[in-house]
Amino acid sequence: MGKKVILFLIVGVLGAYYIYTPFPDNIEEPWRLMWITTNLKMAVHVAWFAEVLGISHFMDTVQFFMSLQDVPVTSDENVTVMETTFNNVPVRVYVPNRKSEILRRGLFYIHGGGWCLGDAGMCSFYRLAPKYHFPSQFEDVYNALRWFLRQDVLEKYGVDPERIGVSGDSAGGNLAAAVAQQV
Ligand SMILES: *[C@@H]1O[C@H](CO)[C@@H](O)[C@H](O)[C@H]1NC(C)=O
Repeated sequence: MGKKVILFLIVGVLGAYYIYTPFPDNIEEPWRLMWITTNLKMAVHVAWFAEVLGISHFMDTVQFFMSLQDVPVTSDENVTVMETTFNNVPVRVYVPNRKSEILRRGLFYIHGGGWCLGDAGMCSFYRLAPKYHFPSQFEDVYNALRWFLRQDVLEKYGVDPERIGVSGDSAGGNLAAAVAQQV
């Protein structure tokens, strides 16, 4: 009986710890957010535990959990999505279906994820840490951008060489600043 009570207490405390996260009252869909937070907490702890036990690098485990959430991209009536490579760097190209009389603006977008995670909704994919270290990420993005800026590539996608933006979020913003300076 005593053991059962202790087990019940441990499970209860652990369950509450993982499930309960205080949120502001006015937040939308609090249960959904709580579900995501619970999964994130558990994933981070499993990853940490695996590293402590010497099974795998923390970020490798997190990458594995993230890969379970991959959603395949699909074209729709407005945009055609293509997976291809620029200079051997995997990229995803989004081209509007609507025909344009003039050359289009182009956006070269680099995903975030702390150089470790991510493959991005739009854009270019660089080799990830911890397996690959600086400057692999910079080189990948730079090589992909140089490829995109080639005249024949710009013509293929109907992009105006005078109106190209280089952008990214988080780690991608860091890489965008670096490659833009280099170009
Ligand atoms: C396609 O574009 C039209 C016009 O802007 C819009 O109403 C429609 O929702 C878009 N379709 C999708 C799948 O986003």
